[in-house]
Amino acid sequence: MVNSFSRSTSGHYSRKGLSYGSPRVGGHRKTWVSRSFHILVGTCLFVSFFLAMGCGYIYVFPSLSQAFHGYGIPKSIGPTGTCDVFEGSWVPYRGYPLYNSSECPFTERGFNCLANGRKDNAYLKWRWKPKNCDIPLFHVRVVLEKLRGKRIVFVGDSMSRTQWESLICLLMNGVEDKKSIYEVNGNKITKQIRFLGVRFSSFNFTIEFFRSVFLVQHGWVPRLGPKRVRSTLKLDKLDDISKDWIDSDVLIFNTGQWWTPGKLFDTGCYFQVGKSLKLGMPITAAYRTALDTWASWVETMVNTNRTRVFFRTFEPSHWTHWSDQSRRFCNVTQFPMMEPNGRDQSPFSDIIQEVVKNMTVPVTVLRVTSMGAFRSDAHVGSWSDTPAVADCSHWCLPGVPDVWNEIIISYLLADDKLTPQ
Ligand SMILES: *[C@@H]1O[C@H](CO)[C@@H](O)[C@H](O)[C@H]1NC(C)=O
Ligand SMILES: *[C@@H]1O[C@H](CO)[C@@H](O)[C@H](O)[C@H]1NC(C)=O
Ligand SMILES: *[C@@H]1O[C@H](CO)[C@@H](O)[C@H](O)[C@H]1NC(C)=O
Ligand SMILES: *[C@@H]1O[C@H](CO)[C@@H](O)[C@H](O)[C@H]1NC(C)=O
Ligand SMILES: *[C@@H]1O[C@H](CO)[C@@H](O)[C@H](O)[C@H]1NC(C)=O
Repeated sequence: MVNSFSRSTSGHYSRKGLSYGSPRVGGHRKTWVSRSFHILVGTCLFVSFFLAMGCGYIYVFPSLSQAFHGYGIPKSIGPTGTCDVFEGSWVPYRGYPLYNSSECPFTERGFNCLANGRKDNAYLKWRWKPKNCDIPLFHVRVVLEKLRGKRIVFVGDSMSRTQWESLICLLMNGVEDKKSIYEVNGNKITKQIRFLGVRFSSFNFTIEFFRSVFLVQHGWVPRLGPKRVRSTLKLDKLDDISKDWIDSDVLIFNTGQWWTPGKLFDTGCYFQVGKSLKLGMPITAAYRTALDTWASWVETMVNTNRTRVFFRTFEPSHWTHWSDQSRRFCNVTQFPMMEPNGRDQSPFSDIIQEVVKNMTVPVTVLRVTSMGAFRSDAHVGSWSDTPAVADCSHWCLPGVPDVWNEIIISYLLADDKLTPQ
């Protein structure tokens, strides 16, 4: 419960109070200063406790929560107003989860943690609360109508696939005739599949996923350069399936999880620009080059009068000793962390923001890195389809990706471009 005031209130103050206070209190020179620190710590702990209790109340009695919302918290002004929707904290919310993965055929088994044996379920009950506004509640019929006649396209790695699954399940709840919702080629969800498209036929829209883990072209090289080079990423060429992304109403990108030495150099994959191999190019420099390629592709190929473009920043993972494959391990917690412990920062996220800032067309950056950093409780862990290999990268569904979708929907609802016909 204490976690709910993760960054702005109790977590922050009590940690500060303790880290200044405890060494002095333990020492033999009991000065007035140390005593006043003692009092400060005590006060902070008391206040934290009180806030946590208050939170528990809200959790148990939602009507109180409404009363609470009447004071102090400004009415929702949506992400296009003065509020930064990505600044905030996780608060308990009784209305979650919004769907049951076991009743949604589009959640892959690997992400359905409850079905895979997870017993605790507090992790399902946290909602993102922006500091100065609220994310509008998800009214499924309103959203279904808003999306009528539209084509929504997710492009990226498995994190995009998770978000694709989440959006379908969020929307499916509002459709009575479940048979009217189907994968257009009758395909099953698999990890390697390059295209999946789910059609909501009574609402005449599709939600599609294109697997493109680097966004740029990956190619095999027959006889180019040293023997260790087995394939290259052509940083100046967008993925060859990119022509299929253009004619859409909403385009949501991500890339980041595959930009690691293990997935690149250790498999013999190196960078290439034009005809030249870039053997010594650092990963972050290559990432920036790839994103520049993506940016000019958007600027020249996408009609942003029609298409709303989003780019999601890096999704934090919660491995211990992440960089050392042999020692890394995954400990999914029961509650969110009080402190992000540095996971709210990512060089990839910084690069995305820098590149987008420089673009000549509007692109919305979904800055999810910081909010995800607290959610050490929300990963699939051992409750996946391969329980032998714990997983602190992917998220359980329902879960964190639902919030990414609620934020996207809040942008679309505030957007005139997507007025229903
Ligand atoms: C989800 O649905 C399954 C299958 O209908 C059911 O057994 C299970 O109890 C449901 N879970 C929750 C949390 O409602
Ligand atoms: C379905 O949506 C497409 C694309 O927006 C549109 O051209 C078509 O007329 C719609 N069909 C129906 C039956 O509404
Ligand atoms: C987009 O809209 C602007 C302003 O309405 C217009 O000048 C521009 O030509 C449009 N671009 C395309 C590609 O339709
Ligand atoms: C895993 O996390 C829990 C807290 O959720 C902690 O009590 C436990 O010691 C951790 N286990 C390891 C091996 O770090
Ligand atoms: C932004 O674009 C300008 C002009 O193309 C370029 O000179 C500059 O280096 C770019 N800045 C970044 C941060 O990419």
